[in-house]
Amino acid sequence: MKNSKFIKALNLQDNSTPPVWFMRQAGRYLPEYQEIRKNYTNFLDMCKQPKTCAELALQPIDRFDLDASILFSDILTIPDALNLGLAFHEGEGPKFSNPISSPQDIKRLTRFDVNSLDYVFKAVEETKKILPNNLPLIGFCGSPWTLAAYSIEGGGSKDFNKTKSFMKEHPKELHEFLEILSNACYEYLRQQVLSGVNALQIFDSWADLLLENELEKFSLQYTQRLTSLLKADPVTSNIPIILFEKAPKIKIDDLVFADISCVSLYWQEDIDRVAKKLKNQYAIQGNLDPKVLLESDELIWNETQKICSIMSEYPGFIFNLGHGITPDINPSKVKVMIDAIRQ
Ligand code: CP3
Repeated sequence: MKNSKFIKALNLQDNSTPPVWFMRQAGRYLPEYQEIRKNYTNFLDMCKQPKTCAELALQPIDRFDLDASILFSDILTIPDALNLGLAFHEGEGPKFSNPISSPQDIKRLTRFDVNSLDYVFKAVEETKKILPNNLPLIGFCGSPWTLAAYSIEGGGSKDFNKTKSFMKEHPKELHEFLEILSNACYEYLRQQVLSGVNALQIFDSWADLLLENELEKFSLQYTQRLTSLLKADPVTSNIPIILFEKAPKIKIDDLVFADISCVSLYWQEDIDRVAKKLKNQYAIQGNLDPKVLLESDELIWNETQKICSIMSEYPGFIFNLGHGITPDINPSKVKVMIDAIRQ
């Protein structure tokens, strides 16, 4: 694994061409994904089939020969394990039938039992069995804050008003909930590592809901709690951690901390500026705007090469998108981008 381009980059070693993988590289934009997806009404039922997860994780590797694979699962498995009743309805995204609506709901929460997520750890094992040798597998979780936001909101939302009110009205109980989630994420990632993952990514996909002074208090503090648990544990201490923050109100270069090996830059970040600040300290992953993949081949080629040329002297650069691939992308456009990186 040490010789994989991806792990070398995470260790700030140079590569002739940057390693490449994509957030949401397995998913609805791939016809081979749709072929399997149509056998399930509820997406979560598909996530509970370890062999199917392994097959889905492999699809983008087979198609594009990427430098890393990511576990096929979802960040919302933890709130589901806390009995919030997760389902994915057609065209609606995630919905919880039993969300956190009051402080009492937090007091009444069932204790997190990592074994209830055994289907995820089996998926890791099945994926490792069929992945090419030396191809790293990334495990992941949502940040405690992002998981809390979904759990309180009861699903996705434009404004997350319920979450914002809960934060104002019940900060103490929210902190208790964030602590529960931090510990759950730690046990969850630890078990993913024991099952075979080679790197970890933490998705703080709702960092942008928080004002500058709230971001530290409600999100970063708990992500740091999670990473310090991982770093103190001999099982996980050597596993590189990648942090993705979506549009944070604190500058990303002021926000990263020592437990993190790599920052995954949102597409709005100025990669040139951030690279100058973080050089020789952190690996950087990013950060083409996924919407560029809706444009002409020529534009995709140019925008991809622009990023590669800015980062050509940066030890520890990993090419990625600045957020996940969306279902409206044509896989042939992804190929154009990969060719531009490897050219
Ligand atoms: O290749 C991969 O990255 C696959 C594994 C993966 C999925 N979700 C599969 C998935 C990963 C790493 C995630 C992370 C995830 N899930 C995040 C963080 C990344 C980000 O986008 O910021 C978030 C916020 C979620 C929550 C989630 N899961 C939402 C909001 C939705 C519905 C909307 C959408 O984008 O589809 C999901 C469902 C989901 N998770 C799908 C997949 C492939 C689509 C489900 C379907 O086929 O209906």
